[in-house]
Amino acid sequence: MANKGKVKVGIIGSQFEATIHAESFQILPHEAEVVAVASPTPGHAADLAKKYNIPNVYTDYREMLKQPEIEMVTITAPNRLHCQMTVDIANAGKHVVCEKPLCMTLEEADLMIETCQKQGVLLMYAEELFFAPKYVKVKEMADQGAFGDLYLVKQSEKHFGPHGAWFWDVNQSGGGVFMDMGCHGIAFAYWFLGRPKLKRVTARMSTHVHGNLTRGEDNSICILEFENGAMGLIEDSWAKRGGMDDRMEVYGSEGVAYANLLMGNAIPTFSENGYGYAVEKAPTTKGWTYPVFDELYNYGFPQEMVHFARCVRGKETCIVTGEDGRFVQEALYAGYQSAGLGQSVEMPFKPQGVARPIDLWFNPIK
Ligand SMILES: NC(=O)c1ccc[n+]([C@@H]2O[C@H](COP(=O)([O-])OP(=O)(O)OC[C@H]3O[C@@H](n4cnc5c(N)ncnc54)[C@H](O)[C@@H]3O)[C@@H](O)[C@H]2O)c1
Repeated sequence: MANKGKVKVGIIGSQFEATIHAESFQILPHEAEVVAVASPTPGHAADLAKKYNIPNVYTDYREMLKQPEIEMVTITAPNRLHCQMTVDIANAGKHVVCEKPLCMTLEEADLMIETCQKQGVLLMYAEELFFAPKYVKVKEMADQGAFGDLYLVKQSEKHFGPHGAWFWDVNQSGGGVFMDMGCHGIAFAYWFLGRPKLKRVTARMSTHVHGNLTRGEDNSICILEFENGAMGLIEDSWAKRGGMDDRMEVYGSEGVAYANLLMGNAIPTFSENGYGYAVEKAPTTKGWTYPVFDELYNYGFPQEMVHFARCVRGKETCIVTGEDGRFVQEALYAGYQSAGLGQSVEMPFKPQGVARPIDLWFNPIK
């Protein structure tokens, strides 16, 4: 395997998140280049390859893993496939970038971490909020003492529901919006507060507008209580109209900051005619809209991929790993259990044999 020059990357998947990865490597191309893409639907990988000038195309990712020059593989497939793919990538001796949420179960998280350790490859957890410039700035200020002792971090992500059919199928996703987007907020609060121990989780979930499409929740609220006394408040929705909303707030004994990732960087616009694209999942570009510029950069995706490539070269130490993904997984379990029981859940909460996190909402452990 090459250990100098640009890191050679393979992407598994060819749709929404795969496009973001491919585009991110093009936006900041100095550390890595995508040399292959694998996706099972005939023509899809080839379409992505054509758009981003990727030389090798596969329908079976296992074939891609035989390509010797590939050093790092990014997983942008449905959640239920993350574990098997990670194990296969690691066993092929390549570094892993796994999209959020890490996987379906705690057993899978352990297997992923153990296999990567055994094979001597990195397991990098693709939580881009750790790289979003606006959020990074707030964290820097917090770390410099700007807000005194932090007692509350809020993070929320809301839109009117996902783009792909598999998200609605809890067998493939593992849960609804809490699993899909609550995982961002959990990771964010944990990271922002300096990875304190989690003491207690309280959550409420409901399905308001998409009950015809899914058994999953389309709205969730979760309180994380940490041992140092700080709290995280994580709000997520697939029931919110008007396109993507992503924001955070931090409160401390000496200050406060509000950061609105998209609307805060948007261009308030009125148009009778509409135009090409406003922001992720916006239903229209007519009337009042809030187009965002440099959307991927505002989210931190290109910066995230550069960091991962630099970690592969040993130039940086990974700041978001499989262990972070495992922490999120445990909090997801506790959140579903809390919503199912209608009570708070004390940590640690590590039940074995749970097939899908959402099962703990359907049938909480008594
Ligand atoms: N970080 C983020 O903000 C973010 C945003 C969107 C999605 N994601 C995550 O990325 C992952 C993919 O989501 P998406 O939105 O791209 O979904 P998608 O439906 O747009 O694409 C899924 C891709 O997986 C491929 N796939 C399915 N089975 C496969 C297999 N056996 N082998 C190889 N490829 C296979 C499909 O062909 C498709 O290309 C999910 O885990 C999701 O949670 C993360």
